Amino acid sequence: MSKSKPKKKISRRKFLKGTGAALAVATAAPKIEAQTPAAGVATDAVPRSMIRVTVNGTERRIEVEDRWTLVELLRDHLGLTGTKIGCDRGECGACTVLLDGKPVYSCSNLAVWADGRSVETVEGLAQNGGLDPLQQAFIDHDAPQCGFCTSGQLMSAKGLLTRNPQPSADEVRAGMTGNLCRCAGYNHYVEAVLAAAKGGSR
Ligand code: FES
Ligand code: FES
Repeated sequence: MSKSKPKKKISRRKFLKGTGAALAVATAAPKIEAQTPAAGVATDAVPRSMIRVTVNGTERRIEVEDRWTLVELLRDHLGLTGTKIGCDRGECGACTVLLDGKPVYSCSNLAVWADGRSVETVEGLAQNGGLDPLQQAFIDHDAPQCGFCTSGQLMSAKGLLTRNPQPSADEVRAGMTGNLCRCAGYNHYVEAVLAAAKGGSR
């Protein structure tokens, strides 16, 4: 009898490991109540840094407030609103982007930490007017329902297929375990990723 490949344990803890330190720092910081300083608060009192970050293939030099999260930079200052905010505390995965090719929670990383690095968002998936095969597979498998988690699911799946182009179903589940779906479309998402990996959307 042939030995079957040992199954990888699915653990959200493992997914969170990469962003755990970031989350600890982000949650320890004072809560950001508003983008605009309150009346009477001098804007130069807020530490700012100039960062150089490549976003979806384009290098940008941006002055950021040191307290901005990465998702805040992407959505509020670069207009990349495809990245969603669900929990804003490192629990749901809606804000997942690729940082140097690795899926991370952008709500739990500071923008200044992206200095010198590359960020990919869902807006960078489509090329030359055509959908990425993963996007097409998601559509073909009817995976998005309300769609709120979809961009995060796409980015986790993209990161997974980049490091493991032919994953098993268990490996897909493990790779996307940090992305919650309140519409419970998990099986459709897994089927879509497997189809995209095989080079066919169905
Ligand atoms: S919004 Fe970032 S993990 Fe939920
Ligand atoms: S499709 Fe609705 S949250 Fe996932």
